[in-house]
Amino acid sequence: MKKLRIMSVFGTRPEAIKMCPLVKELAARPGFESLCCVTAQHRQMLDSVLEVFGLRPDWDLDIMTPRQTLSDITSRCLLGMDEAIAALRPDVVLVHGDTSTTFAGALSAYYHQVPVGHVEAGLRTYDKYAPFPEEMNRVLTSSIADMHFCPTSGNRENLLREGRSQNLFVTGNTVIDALKTTVRPDYRFSTEELNRLPCGGKKLILVTCHRRENYGEPMKNICLALRQIAEENQDVELVYPVHLSPVVRETVDRYLRGAPRVHLIDPLPTDEMHNLMDRCYLVLTDSGGLQEEAPALGKPVLVLRRETERPEAVAAGTVKLAGVVQDDIVTMAERLISDKEAYEKMAHAVNPYGDGNACRRIADAIEWRYGFRKERPADYEA
Ligand code: UD1
Ligand code: UDP
Repeated sequence: MKKLRIMSVFGTRPEAIKMCPLVKELAARPGFESLCCVTAQHRQMLDSVLEVFGLRPDWDLDIMTPRQTLSDITSRCLLGMDEAIAALRPDVVLVHGDTSTTFAGALSAYYHQVPVGHVEAGLRTYDKYAPFPEEMNRVLTSSIADMHFCPTSGNRENLLREGRSQNLFVTGNTVIDALKTTVRPDYRFSTEELNRLPCGGKKLILVTCHRRENYGEPMKNICLALRQIAEENQDVELVYPVHLSPVVRETVDRYLRGAPRVHLIDPLPTDEMHNLMDRCYLVLTDSGGLQEEAPALGKPVLVLRRETERPEAVAAGTVKLAGVVQDDIVTMAERLISDKEAYEKMAHAVNPYGDGNACRRIADAIEWRYGFRKERPADYEA
């Protein structure tokens, strides 16, 4: 049988973390040729992930520009993808999640009449401006996709409600596969700032914040809340690897830099980040990926947003929505810092997002769909 040429397309840090393990799993299957096309919507943050996972792309669109607009990303991706598809001639294109790379990658494959598989499919808030533009990227990508790899059964339900019933597979999230390769009890940090952190009775709070819908007033409120938490609680240390977006960095510099017990550092390589999370007390974040990783490590998460498309960890009790109002964030964080019982209620490991075998299930599903295997793979059940 002719090998199936599968081209995985991704461009930002979280897509890379969640797709690198899949690209490798596909490469290990005898029926597949696994190709990798990066848009480099993120340049440095993407390259850092590729280095951690030891992956060399077959094609690099190199599209990133400073302060790029959504139209910049989408148009540069579309033009670049024409060349990538012409050169690599994939039989199937895989895209991931909800970024502009995801949508443009799917749209380009459709223009070339190449079937599309959507990894991390079916997440929804049903508010097209929150998260912006990710909610619309997801909906549009679902419309184009021919195979939908849903992390949870709830994600599949969302797609069924929209009238999509063909080729839905519940696989778990590949981020848990990634986490299983990076977190180790004997891990030693190579980032000097992390080795210098005060320890001994200190509670380490890990922070990230970057979402476009938080730009402006919400991000200012979040920074002021973080400042207040650090000033009022001598037993905490806040570590915040700051995203490279200039908008984020300007806000953080203006409202948070210089606060006591706050460590503003550059983005961390994935293995450093995952092991830091494994050792922290609490996570404050507006990131999607951290809402999936921290529960698996038993770390409570306060989400710095008004909504979440990841209700499974909220239901399991390890994630709570803190919103973007300064007082609310401070009150909720200080409760978890001082009230042991409230903390213990949230701090237990749950894995609604996967068992570390999502890549295997996705590869099995593609094999089944293209006649390389008889049995349809069983859906993941949390
Ligand atoms: C993008 C995704 C968002 C995802 C996030 C993950 C879109 C519209 N947004 O948002 O869904 O949650 O990535 O982090 O697809 N920059 C660098 N170097 C880098 C990365 C970024 O300098 O390695 C700077 C550049 O100036 C760039 C800016 O950050 O223009 C913003 O990057 P962009 O990808 O447009 O938006 P994100 O906010 O990162
Ligand atoms: N991450 C990382 N280094 C950092 C911050 C985050 O490796 O300094 C990882 C994090 O563990 C998670 C992913 O990046 O796997 C989340 O990416 P991001 O927050 O940029 O995007 P989102 O998940 O919100 O789309």
